[in-house]
Amino acid sequence: MAALPLSAPAFLGAFELGRAIAMTDATDAVDTPTPRRNPKPEAKTINGRELKPSTLMMGHGYDPALSEGSLKAPIFLTSTFAFENSAAGKRHFEGITGKRPGGAEGLVYSRFNGPNQEILEDRLAIWDGAEDALSFSSGMTAITVMLLAYCNAGDVIVHSGPLYAATEGFVAKVLSKFGITYVDFPAGATREELDAVLEKAKAQAADNGGKVAMVYLESPANPTNALVDVEAVKEARDAVLDRDCPIAIDNTFLGPLWSRPLDHGADIVVYSLTKYVGGHSDLVAGSIAGAKKWMDPVRALRNTMGGIADPNTAWMLMRSLETVELRMQRAGENAAKVCAFLKDHPKVEGLGYLGFIEDARQQDIYDRHCKGAGSTFSLFVKGGEEEAFRFLDAMKIAKLAVSLGGTETLASCPAAMTHLSVPDERKAQLGITPNLVRISIGIEDPDDLIADFDQALAAV
Ligand SMILES: Cc1ncc(COP(=O)(O)O)c(C=O)c1O
Repeated sequence: MAALPLSAPAFLGAFELGRAIAMTDATDAVDTPTPRRNPKPEAKTINGRELKPSTLMMGHGYDPALSEGSLKAPIFLTSTFAFENSAAGKRHFEGITGKRPGGAEGLVYSRFNGPNQEILEDRLAIWDGAEDALSFSSGMTAITVMLLAYCNAGDVIVHSGPLYAATEGFVAKVLSKFGITYVDFPAGATREELDAVLEKAKAQAADNGGKVAMVYLESPANPTNALVDVEAVKEARDAVLDRDCPIAIDNTFLGPLWSRPLDHGADIVVYSLTKYVGGHSDLVAGSIAGAKKWMDPVRALRNTMGGIADPNTAWMLMRSLETVELRMQRAGENAAKVCAFLKDHPKVEGLGYLGFIEDARQQDIYDRHCKGAGSTFSLFVKGGEEEAFRFLDAMKIAKLAVSLGGTETLASCPAAMTHLSVPDERKAQLGITPNLVRISIGIEDPDDLIADFDQALAAV
């Protein structure tokens, strides 16, 4: 057969491996990121009216004509994609390797991309007003591949605290093995405090022979719900660091509906799609979105390492995106009603809910950055672990499980479960007390939920 001497994936695998070995800096791969096939142009406006994300979720990026008229995109279960002829194969690789200017189009091999993932990524980008997006097999895959793509030995990561425990662990325990250090700051830090933190990080990077590689935020923080002032972080970054140091933010708790951090100065928005976006507690996935220049190095490393969402999960996420606005709106309304009931309940010591912020600075950040209070909050039951357990065990509708953002209401006790291994001193610092119950409100009938909370509190 006078086709490619090696199968396309094998050849590309060898090519990628060669690059990986030659690469001292993953960002080198920006030169030749795997190009994407553009979807058929479609109307995103009608008579000058820009169509809303909820409308575009029904069809954007997918042309039924290309799939036998199937209204919904089929699930493309294939590991590789056939070239039309050998000349087309050669042309493609000439484009990829830069031997022919103008790049290359089309799908080659499913570690790099696939039709379901490309449609999903186009739709994810819409919600955040991003130029490009990348999907991953989990939120943690998205976070770790992104951090690896941007960091070299000697570099420093500046991050808000607390972070999701696995993220914090990856930075502190895994990246440190490669000579990457970090400087952290409390979520509510002011512009002045941020300037000081970035100056410290810059000096640390200079001492270590590296640069400040990324400012990584999580807002609201898990499980404290403390908000980060993204606008102040951007101003501080622009004042103290080079603008080529991206600001990434984990928007899992409020995105994509209640917060759009790219509008406030973040460069990359990060998601565990497992939560609100997937929304049915039936899949695990992640994503990042932002300008193409920020996505390209991460895409190149994802091409090498793998970690893209699988076609079935990508298809399920497209299904989920059609209802994400409806689900989040209902969950948000439900949470507001449940929290109004809990607020002055005699068995409730307090609430960590963004709808009832008591701190003026946090309220100011909320007013500038958030379009809604979300549906995940902390409930402090009067008493200690015993009372919290009695409450949790008495719940009849809410399920006792970690995670959040699903259609069903979930409850857990971070001090005894997700944060059990966190040292007591750090737990006290973060306000993770034994009586803290973490709640994620779903889309059930709100009065049924209130009845459940009422009877469960009566059992305390
Ligand atoms: C804020 C946040 N970021 C990231 C993750 C990790 O996502 P995944 O479980 O999809 O890997 C989680 C998971 O709970 C999370 O809560």
